[in-house]
Amino acid sequence: MMACMGEDLADLTPITPDGHLGPADQHPGIRDREYRRRRHAVTAPARGHQLGDPAPLVSYTESEHATWRAVHAALVAAYEGRVCPEVLAAREEARLPPDHVPQLSEVGARLRSLTGFDFTPAGGPVRNRRFLGALAEGYFHAAQYVRHPAMPLYTPEPDIIHDVFGHGAHLASPWFADLYRLVGAAAARAVSEDTLDLISRVYWFSLEYGVVADRSGVRAYGAALLTSYGELRRLRLAGIRGWDIADIARTSYRTFGYQPVLFGVRSLDHLADALHEFLNDVDEDTGARLGLPTTGP
Ligand SMILES: [Fe+2]
Repeated sequence: MMACMGEDLADLTPITPDGHLGPADQHPGIRDREYRRRRHAVTAPARGHQLGDPAPLVSYTESEHATWRAVHAALVAAYEGRVCPEVLAAREEARLPPDHVPQLSEVGARLRSLTGFDFTPAGGPVRNRRFLGALAEGYFHAAQYVRHPAMPLYTPEPDIIHDVFGHGAHLASPWFADLYRLVGAAAARAVSEDTLDLISRVYWFSLEYGVVADRSGVRAYGAALLTSYGELRRLRLAGIRGWDIADIARTSYRTFGYQPVLFGVRSLDHLADALHEFLNDVDEDTGARLGLPTTGP
């Protein structure tokens, strides 16, 4: 059943208060064949897409628009007091529509005018080297499909809501766009998969799952948190550690379910300093300096 504004959306999803989501392979987005067919039909036209090619237009269904509206309403309500004000201001600048799933070109044109960034469609899974490397060129790979309507407040895989709501807000801000380019430049220089993995962990625990933790409380800035209603609601229950590159380098992350560990910076200025310091200098010796085992070339 699709949610309407004003309903308690937390009751419409199988997420329990302790964050249990059930086994990954039981998620309706994995098991529903009709949904998988629709998802394939949306994704297939972007296969073989090159950076800079226009994104294929998608004719979204009323059900997909309704999912967008439900998630939009729930997230905006959850942002109050839980999200960094700088991110909320950037989100306003992005002018994301509340009432329909936008085309990537619709939001991308706005981002281009603000920061020079644009979306490029992900025609399927995108490997780290391509995904992170494209950031150096001002492109963010975005999904075009919409999450399963039975579970609108959680998706284990990035959909257009995650990419456009979360990363679109960041990429409307010159300040955040600079950090994305910084990640991209470091990834483009990386030779080994180990170094790339290290950069991708730092990206994950900052621009995806980062929080600011100070005396006034915990506020999210990471794009994954900005689009995860359940995690936003239980932000204060997460295990939050201080920003520490060696700790981050050793911490594995979950691609399904709520993150058990988040890393907090003291402020967004602290984040920028920490990312510049690490990403400007990261090289093939960094992993060994941090005491990480190597897995080969
Ligand atoms: Fe993301």
